Amino acid sequence: MASTTRKKPTDLRSARWFAPDDLRGFGHRSRFMQMGYGTTDWKDKPVIAIVNTWSDINPCHAHFKHRVEDVKRGVLQAGGLPIELPALSLAEQYVKPTTMLYRNMLAMDVEELLRCHPIDGAVLMGGCDKTTPALLMGATSAGLPCIYVPAGPMLRGNWKGKVLGSGSDAWKFWDERRAGNISDQDWTNIEAGIARSDGTCMTMGTASTMTAIAESLGMTLPGASSIPAPDSNHIRMCSASGQRIVEMVWEDLTPNKIQTIKAFENAIAVAMAMGCSTNAIIHLIAQGRRAGCDITLDDFEAASHIPVIGNVRPSGEKYLMEDFFYAGGLPGLMSRLTDHLHLDAMTVTGRSLGENIAGAEVHDDDVIRPMDNPVYASGALAVLKGNIAPDGCVIKPSACAPHLRKHSGPALVFDDYPSMKKAVEDESLEVTADHVLILRNAGPQGGPGMPEWGMLPIPKKLVKQGVRDMVRISDARMSGTSYGACILHVSPEAYIGGPLALVRTGDIISVDVDARTINLDVSDTELTRRQADWKPLPPRFERGYGWMFNRHIGQADKGCDFDFLQTSFGGATREPDI
Ligand code: FES
Ligand code: MG
Repeated sequence: MASTTRKKPTDLRSARWFAPDDLRGFGHRSRFMQMGYGTTDWKDKPVIAIVNTWSDINPCHAHFKHRVEDVKRGVLQAGGLPIELPALSLAEQYVKPTTMLYRNMLAMDVEELLRCHPIDGAVLMGGCDKTTPALLMGATSAGLPCIYVPAGPMLRGNWKGKVLGSGSDAWKFWDERRAGNISDQDWTNIEAGIARSDGTCMTMGTASTMTAIAESLGMTLPGASSIPAPDSNHIRMCSASGQRIVEMVWEDLTPNKIQTIKAFENAIAVAMAMGCSTNAIIHLIAQGRRAGCDITLDDFEAASHIPVIGNVRPSGEKYLMEDFFYAGGLPGLMSRLTDHLHLDAMTVTGRSLGENIAGAEVHDDDVIRPMDNPVYASGALAVLKGNIAPDGCVIKPSACAPHLRKHSGPALVFDDYPSMKKAVEDESLEVTADHVLILRNAGPQGGPGMPEWGMLPIPKKLVKQGVRDMVRISDARMSGTSYGACILHVSPEAYIGGPLALVRTGDIISVDVDARTINLDVSDTELTRRQADWKPLPPRFERGYGWMFNRHIGQADKGCDFDFLQTSFGGATREPDI
């Protein structure tokens, strides 16, 4: 058990609202009665927030509208009082320019929801990409016991009996459509078949990466992250999470007792073995900093020897999350990774990770590979450095064409997304497969929010010649379902004058993934001259949230958190005693 001392009812945080025999206590109790609750509903019971990120425009979380009732059932069974608190719903597909602009806003939303209400513990319901890090960042800062409920991946896509994978097949078939190989009717049928149940993207995109990270951090029930959204196991996991959080409150099992440096090292190891999304780097650094653990790019580089054993697309060739679940899911994968895990790390169950995965099995050695027969032998992610990215950048070698891991070629530079989008469709564009495509001013401030533009489309002319991969460099991110020789998160970004801003079309750029280098073949003297000529772009925002965002957002290598939300900022909070 995490703690031998149990809280007493008088120790509950919510008792501050409900217990005092004063005018405020009267107000709190009478307004609960207004909602139909009687004294026995709240007296001496943990009040559990269920932070629900459902909305009518979030297909990944559509089932949360009713699944929240299963969480409530669990809370009630365990003797708690469930309170549903809606939070900002960030649907990856609909939020422009990118949900990343709002990850920190959701984190603030969660922290403040938990802080300002009479809450003793929280169930966090999320899954779509940024939602997982945002909920965990906010709840970690709030410091109350919490448990994460992942939305779960959707079922496999289907078109004409072929399996379709979220994102990956959209990109693939879009290139075929641009090449004139897919009819209008087939295209409509692909649209109808690629997302055919509730749940998150079912490739190893950012959603499945981040929910697996939540589980390997110890913040979900064992196996929770792999359960497909429509599976009845998911319903039972929801109610079990509701039950468990009530006990966590009595045990005072707060996030800082779970999210230690060991937990983060476990999460990095699992992310590598899963063939994770590149976005994992930014989010884990930000989450670590909220938990007081200083995770850096070097921690990912240090784990880059861990082989990819999760054979799930896009690092793998054919399987999806549904297959991964049937093959044993994350506990199965972790059972193969024990040499790289701290098995004594605490989890929400009150038991160690090692205890949680004892007895876990793999049922299909092709989906979850043995360590000596990996999908990719040397790690999902690599961190490159050089004069174009002094603070680092990231590539996913497991998802790029092998011949491009070492490459030199002339740059073809685009200053913004619209001009790049137009140019790549122009068949008279002067470009060869050896060119290095560059998109800049797409970073944390420049994008703003680092949109997932980093998998620049292959120019149409080259697509028709059969080219399917090229070296691409940007200060943007890319979707976890994307693939190719895409070098991302270049830090510092071009918009604030990083060296990427100084590249000109025709400059030679050399990339060597094995040597972890990326360099611009231009002399320091010339770069200094160009730096002196560089003019910043006008500000993106003159007011509102964006104005605040650009003043406080950190660079990619630091996790893109707001400076004022990090634990190192400022002194202790002094709440008024009211
Ligand atoms: Fe929500 Fe991919 S769009 S997880
Ligand atoms: Mg995504």
